[in-house]
Amino acid sequence: MTRLLEPLHFRNGLLSRNRIALAAMTNSQSHADGVLSDEELHWLALRSEGGFGIVATCAAHVSKNGQGWPGELGIFDDCHLPGLKRVAEDTRERGALPMVQIFHGGLRADRSVSGERPWSASEGAPNQDGSEGARAATAADIHGVICDFADAAARAHAAGMAGVEIHGAHGYLLTQFLSRVENRRNDGWGGSLENRARLMREVTRAIRCRVPASFLVGVRISPEDAGNARGLDLDENLQLARWLCEDGIDFLHLSLWDAFRNTLKRPAEHALTIFREVVPKDIPLFTAGKIWTREDAERVLDLGADVIALGRAAIINPEWPLGIADPGWQPQRPPVSATQLREWGLQPVFIDRMRLRENFVLEGS
Ligand SMILES: Cc1cc2nc3c(=O)[nH]c(=O)nc-3n(C[C@H](O)[C@H](O)[C@H](O)COP(=O)(O)O)c2cc1C
Repeated sequence: MTRLLEPLHFRNGLLSRNRIALAAMTNSQSHADGVLSDEELHWLALRSEGGFGIVATCAAHVSKNGQGWPGELGIFDDCHLPGLKRVAEDTRERGALPMVQIFHGGLRADRSVSGERPWSASEGAPNQDGSEGARAATAADIHGVICDFADAAARAHAAGMAGVEIHGAHGYLLTQFLSRVENRRNDGWGGSLENRARLMREVTRAIRCRVPASFLVGVRISPEDAGNARGLDLDENLQLARWLCEDGIDFLHLSLWDAFRNTLKRPAEHALTIFREVVPKDIPLFTAGKIWTREDAERVLDLGADVIALGRAAIINPEWPLGIADPGWQPQRPPVSATQLREWGLQPVFIDRMRLRENFVLEGS
């Protein structure tokens, strides 16, 4: 049997039936007020049914003004609790651990949906259409968002979720504070690494204080620059990882985009090897990025991951974990038709998002 299907014991006693997670994926299928829709539940349920050990929701905004896209799941208000409860119950019934990814878009929050001017570590450049960019955070914004993250985690716990993944990757608020480029503050929240990492750490600690040890708290980070994640440094992130472990995280998720490439800063070394050296053995490392086949996933475990997270492969192979139990099984690959995507739980709004990705949806379908 493949190691991928071996159970994973978290140090708090929780058990995942295997080492395969559904990566958080924004899918725009929630209602305009952030309340879960039946369609979003169905999208997740198909993956729980398909054997994933851990099923993460899309990034869910912890503050109303942190929303990144229309149709995004919200977790900033008690009105979201019933929907979150439905996900938690349904996912558990199908044998997977339900997890919510919690986030704030910062300067990438969408003013047209939140109705507010976005804010970030520092003031942003004007937008292309000439409108004002993000404003610099006040002390009240910073303390408020720490409370919002903690409240969101408490809501996830009350809903029956197994844990939260704090979204500290991909250039959203927490990464913007960490960034050497986007954070130009000269107070206690900017300047030194200690100051730039403070928001991510304070959020982690505030959450840890609000939820019991039986509730998983993990962080997803971008180890180096990639896409919108700018101004990051591998060695700084290694120190961040050490600190987050001290702060009580239960897992660390390295978002790599390509799990088979070595790091930019140390081209002979892989991020998993480097992070494994600083992250204690009882804190699992998750990773994602271009993992498509069982062989790919096994290679990533060999590189040092404890859990592999699937994004695009899970969109078109909702039963990937059940499939790989048969060594002869081969996952489908893109492009796929819109009709097939509908069968796999994607509504037109999500399919349209996927059309923006080259060669994913069959043209004309
Ligand atoms: C449609 C889509 C939406 C995504 N949304 C999120 C998100 O909400 N949060 C996040 O951390 N990553 C998000 N990602 C990144 C994935 O979690 C994953 O890290 C990335 O797609 C690489 O894995 P893959 O090669 O298996 O697709 C998204 C990716 C896709 C394709």
